[in-house]
Amino acid sequence: MPTKHFTRTLVTTALPYANGPLHLGHCAGTFIPADIYVRYKRLCGEDIIHIGGSDEHGAAITIAAEKAGTTPQAIVDKFHSMQKDALQKLHISFDNFSRTSLPIHHQTTQEFFLDMERKGVFVKKTEQQFYDEEAKMFLADRYIVGTCPVCGHTEANGDQCENCGTYLSPTELIKPRSKVSGRTPVLKETLHWYFPLGRYQAQLEAFINEKEQSGEWRPNVINYARTWLKDGLGDRAITRDVTWGVKVPLDTDEAANKVIYVWYDAVLGYISSTKEWAQKLGQPDKWRDYWLQDDTRLIHFIGKDNVVFHALMFPAMLMAKNEGNECRSSGSRSEQYVLVDNVPASEFMNIEGKKFSKSRGYAIYLHEFLEKFPADTLRYMIAMNYPESRDTDFSWKEFQNRVNGELADTLGNFVKRAVDFCNSRFDGQVPADCTIDDWNALGAEFIETFEKIDAAYEGFHIREAAFLTMEIARRANRYLAETEPWKTYKDNPASAAKSMAVSLNLCFSLGILLEPILPETSVRILKMLGIEKTVCWNDAKTPKLQAGHRLSGASEILFKKIEDADIEPELKKIDDLVKAAEEKDRQRQMEQEGQKIETAPLKPEITIDDFDKIDLRVGTVLSCEKVPKADKLLKLTVKIGESERTILSGIAEHYKPEEMVGKNIIVVANLAPRKMRGIDSYGMLLAVEGSDRKVNVVMPSGEGINGKAVK
Ligand code: 2FM
Ligand code: ZN
Repeated sequence: MPTKHFTRTLVTTALPYANGPLHLGHCAGTFIPADIYVRYKRLCGEDIIHIGGSDEHGAAITIAAEKAGTTPQAIVDKFHSMQKDALQKLHISFDNFSRTSLPIHHQTTQEFFLDMERKGVFVKKTEQQFYDEEAKMFLADRYIVGTCPVCGHTEANGDQCENCGTYLSPTELIKPRSKVSGRTPVLKETLHWYFPLGRYQAQLEAFINEKEQSGEWRPNVINYARTWLKDGLGDRAITRDVTWGVKVPLDTDEAANKVIYVWYDAVLGYISSTKEWAQKLGQPDKWRDYWLQDDTRLIHFIGKDNVVFHALMFPAMLMAKNEGNECRSSGSRSEQYVLVDNVPASEFMNIEGKKFSKSRGYAIYLHEFLEKFPADTLRYMIAMNYPESRDTDFSWKEFQNRVNGELADTLGNFVKRAVDFCNSRFDGQVPADCTIDDWNALGAEFIETFEKIDAAYEGFHIREAAFLTMEIARRANRYLAETEPWKTYKDNPASAAKSMAVSLNLCFSLGILLEPILPETSVRILKMLGIEKTVCWNDAKTPKLQAGHRLSGASEILFKKIEDADIEPELKKIDDLVKAAEEKDRQRQMEQEGQKIETAPLKPEITIDDFDKIDLRVGTVLSCEKVPKADKLLKLTVKIGESERTILSGIAEHYKPEEMVGKNIIVVANLAPRKMRGIDSYGMLLAVEGSDRKVNVVMPSGEGINGKAVK
């Protein structure tokens, strides 16, 4: 099949809900891969725009507002600017980052709705929906929770289960309950507009078949779409009985107090954002070139949980919009919207092996990350772990290793050594010419690798492109180390000069090749090399710096190493969250099973003077051993300040002796001695028994606390 020729490309990134800060999942799934792709294409000189914005309607927003005790408008204002700011700091190069609460978006959505209403596309149906009698409201989407019929997760939302990703309708939930009052809702009749997705089944099947045959779509995206098609597409309600959103633009009693469903409006956000971009440009009609010309290549970067909306629902909406607009009198412009060319949907990125969960706090927030580490390090880590065909994992240790080993030791070191040596020995001038043959002499791998990188980007294989680019850095670093210009400089200056010329040209090449992934680093490399003019992608493919080219004269360390101390707090945070979530699960499970959390009744009140009588001290365990013939007892030698004492404790079933050595414990230090198994015990240590009957010894941490009183 001949590949279609495209004149321009329109890239969209899924609009995140403006109901919280962005996290690494957003970055890995959409923003970073999309930006890498767009930057690559821009460097290649292609006509491409990157369109995004925030999704400011729907229950995700109103629930966040209710939780925060504020208005939906205040929530979206806060998080839109917070998200926009974080994305700028991550160097995501949007041509426009819009908001679906803007009038231009409301107008666009209403225009689509009215066009479809006029053409008789919609079906109006009165159906039974969940209603909260106490709150006196219909419970759309996330206002209702219950048990997921697919995976059994007890906190599934009415529209989607966060645990398994399945899209649900509220009536599918087992044991549904209202998020507003907590009560079991009742079913009540209400009228809604439905988009007849089923009417487009055949067209969508043909569309997906064509995409499958092209071999360009990811198999996982085809599979998700196929699952929906196999189940048979039905009517989808596209209105809601709430007040926050795009108003149904009809002046009838039926339409009063109804808004358009957030997913109908969100995808149209791509069009309204393009319109806003064109307006800002002073060419208000320019958006038409991108949406209404069939030589536009439309690409949606999304996460796998949004496939149905981008591979089926949005194309069907555009098919419906295009109906009746096929033939235009000559001279007038086409009104046929382009359908998506590719949907590079990502799988998920987990955190330290844990599935992302906002409610559990298993998330790394972008703005917090960027307060501690440079944007390029995150872009690199995500490029190298892009979840293209399977879920991947973000681990802090791996992040540290990649930054230190690959960015600092390989790339950073190579560039700095080459530039420093040129500055110190060759007066900051490239000392010899470099030809493509000089590169070839290192082996033909560069030329081949350039081609492979192009192919990887064209196929949205971001990880492969990043890996291949770093292969060039590795090879260049090895070349410099092997040719050792600092040694040959005296006896064989020609060799040293050649080594410099080759290395500096590879620095230049890397400065361009890395731009999509490490834009900030790319600028710094090119600046050190004294490059001020605009470069393009193909400049990277042949040596461009010839004898006499002057470097800037300065050099800098490109990446600072990440110390253990930098990542330890992050690891601890995750560990604490996991423990807290486990405890919450346990409590919830017990509550569901109708059990009470066992807590002993409080003892009679005491005065502060009573408490003062107890001398609690921090002791450190110097040695520990089992007490012969006593299964439960451990004998500990404990240092408290200058003194040492023996303490017997019934923890042998829970701790091995060696586990206790070196630990700080809290000792009731003025307890009268007690003899056990013929041994005197001078005090008692504090411990607490968990629900699993495990005894947990209280172990305080902190510098210089031994011997100190616990107050
Ligand atoms: O899942 C989400 O976060 C949605 N806000 C994505 C919307 S994508 C597009 F339709 F705008
Ligand atoms: Zn589920």
